[in-house]
Amino acid sequence: MVRFVSALAAVMCLTSVAHAQDSGDVGLGKSLAEANCSQCHNIAPGGAFKLFPPSFKAIAIYMDPDIIRMRILNPGHSVLMPEFHEYMMKANLDALVAYIRSLENS
Ligand code: HEC
Repeated sequence: MVRFVSALAAVMCLTSVAHAQDSGDVGLGKSLAEANCSQCHNIAPGGAFKLFPPSFKAIAIYMDPDIIRMRILNPGHSVLMPEFHEYMMKANLDALVAYIRSLENS
């Protein structure tokens, strides 16, 4: 039940923030990425363009922010990437997306 409620909350967040992708805190997103994503992804500015797993700079270039959000919450086909919706709050998600987007021209 708790699992279901948090999944539902995540879906509601997704809908309500669909057009607020630039509102996240880039600094917070960077520390969240260092703590949760850097063991697999290259999260640094200017990261090399590769696909498995993609650097955050690469993701910033080829992926729409709404899709980035969706993939963080629900990696879908990826067996390697953990699901983060259990604890990912809206502010954290906004921050992560803002950090990834800040790398686009790095
Ligand atoms: C255990 C390793 C691992 C961790 C930890 C991880 N990822 Fe991933 N991630 C992957 C792999 C591998 C892929 C590409 C494979 C795929 O798309 O199926 C991926 C794909 C993605 C994609 C989609 C890119 C695409 O082209 O489909 C996004 C966005 C993403 N990760 C963001 C994050 C964020 C944000 C975090 C931290 C909160 C994170 N990942 C943590 C392994 C990881």
